[in-house]
Amino acid sequence: MASFSSCFPRIGEKVSSWGYSFTWTSDHLSKEEIEPLRQQYDTTAATALQRLQAIRIALVEESKAKGTSPPPNDLYVLLRDHRGDDDVLTEFWTEVNTVPAWVDWEQLARGQRFFYRYAIANMVGFALQGFVAENSAAPGVIEVLVRTGGFSTRMLLGRLLETFQWLIQVTHCIDSIRPGGEGHIASVRVRLLHASVRQRILQLCQTRPEYFDTERFGVPVNILDSVHSISTFCCNPMWLQLPRFGIQPTPDEVRDYIALFRYLAFLLGTPTSYFETVEKGKRTMESLLVHELRTTDTSRTVAFNFVECVTNLPTPFQISKAFIEAGSRWINGDELCDELELGKPGALAYLSFSGHCILVTVIAWLQWILPVLDDLLIRTFRALMYGGIVQRKSRTRFEFKYVPQTGKRTGKEAYYADDLAAVKGHLCSTLSRALGMGPFETFLFFVFVVAGGVVLSATVVFLRLCVMFMRDIGW
Ligand code: HEM
Repeated sequence: MASFSSCFPRIGEKVSSWGYSFTWTSDHLSKEEIEPLRQQYDTTAATALQRLQAIRIALVEESKAKGTSPPPNDLYVLLRDHRGDDDVLTEFWTEVNTVPAWVDWEQLARGQRFFYRYAIANMVGFALQGFVAENSAAPGVIEVLVRTGGFSTRMLLGRLLETFQWLIQVTHCIDSIRPGGEGHIASVRVRLLHASVRQRILQLCQTRPEYFDTERFGVPVNILDSVHSISTFCCNPMWLQLPRFGIQPTPDEVRDYIALFRYLAFLLGTPTSYFETVEKGKRTMESLLVHELRTTDTSRTVAFNFVECVTNLPTPFQISKAFIEAGSRWINGDELCDELELGKPGALAYLSFSGHCILVTVIAWLQWILPVLDDLLIRTFRALMYGGIVQRKSRTRFEFKYVPQTGKRTGKEAYYADDLAAVKGHLCSTLSRALGMGPFETFLFFVFVVAGGVVLSATVVFLRLCVMFMRDIGW
C-alpha cells in the first residue's frame, strides 16, 4: 500500500491516506500531466483586467479634468459598461455570458438543493476537511493565501463568510447562476479578483523575485490550484466529508452537484473537463490527494489561525478548541492532525462530535423517508442562510481588499479577545461552562446522550422480549 509521502503509486496499487483508500489506475492524473498546469493561468481574465484598469485610469483623468465624480471601482460594472469598447473585453464578456451546450439547468437546480439538503454536514465538512485539511495542506494555495492578510485570525472569519456568501449566491436559485443573475455576477467578480491577486503578486516578484517562488508553487492562482479548489468544493463532500458523518449521497446527488460545479468552474475560468463526469471528478480528487497534499509550516499557521478564529466566534456560535480538534481528527484522521499540530482532545469532545454525526444522519434518514420534510428543510436553510449571510450589512462585492505587500505575511496569531471575554461571561450557560463547551456542542452532547439512551433502552426492551419469548417456548 502506497503512502502519499513516499513515491507515486503504480497502476493497480492500493493507495491510502488520511483514512481514504482507493486503487491507482491508468485513468488517474500522472505527475507529468498535472505539473504544466502549475505554470498556466486564466489569461483571458488577466488581459481583461489590464484593459479594465486602463479604462479606469482614463476615466479618473477625465473626471478630474471635468470636476465630476470618479468612476466606479467595481470591475464588473466597468466590464459591463465598457464591454463593447475593445476586443478583449468583448471576448471576455461573451465568454462568461455564453452558456455551454452541456449545461442542463434542471440538473444544476437539483445540485443547488444538495447544498441545503445536508446544510449542516456540508458546512462542518467544508470547515473541518475542506479548509483545515485540504486547503491548508495544498502548498501552492496557502502560500498565496498567507500573502493576503485575510488569513490573520481577525480577518479569517470575514474571509470564510465571504466565501460562504458566494456559495450561497450560486446555490440560491437557478436564475441566480444564469447570465446576469446574482451568483453569475458574483462568480465573474471572483474571477477578476483572482486575476488581481495574481497580477499583484507577480508585480511584487518583478522587483523582489524571492517574494513568491513561482518555480516551486507555480503562478499564483494557477490552473492546477483552481482545479484543486473546485474539486475541494464538489468532490470532497461526496467521498471525504459526508460519508464520515454517516451520510452517503446518492449517485444522482453526486452527479448533480459535480455538474453544478463544472458550470461554476467554467464561470471562474477553470478547465471543466476534469469534472465532465462523476468518474473524472473522483479521479481528479484522488490524483490531487496523491500529488498535491503536503503539510508545511504555512499549513500549521493556517490551521492554528483557523482554530483561534473559530474558537472565538460570538455566542451562540462559539465552539471549543477541543470540539474542533475532535471533529478534525474524526474527519481527517490523527496522522494529518498531528502534522498540523492540532491538540488531542478528551473523550467528552469526541462524544459531542458523535452527537453531531448522529444528528445529521438521523435528519438525513428522515428526509429520505419524508420528502415533505426534505423540501421544508431545504427551503428553511436556503432562506435562513440567504438572509443571514448574503443580506448581511457587511456583505462583500468581492473587491480586492487584502492586497499583498512585500514584508507582510500572515503568521500564527492569537485572537485578541478584548471585548469577547465580557460577552462570553454572561452568555454561556452554566452547563456549557461546567462542561467547558460552547452552546452548540452542549446541544450535540445532549443529542448524543439522548441517542445513546434510545439505543440502550431499545436494546434492553429487545433483550427482555427475547427472554420472555424463550421462557414461553420453555427454552
Ligand atoms: C476555482 C475555485 C475557487 C473558488 C470557487 C474560489 C472562491 C473564492 C471566493 C468566493 C473569493 C471571495 C471571497 C473571499 O475573499 O474569500 C475568493 C477570494 C480569493 N481567492 Fe479564491 N477561489 C478559488 C480558487 C482560488 C485559488 C486556486 C487561489 C489561490 C491559490 C485562490 C485565492 C484567493 C484569494 C487570495 C482571495 C482573496 C482576495 C482578496 O480578497 O484579497 N482562490 N475565492
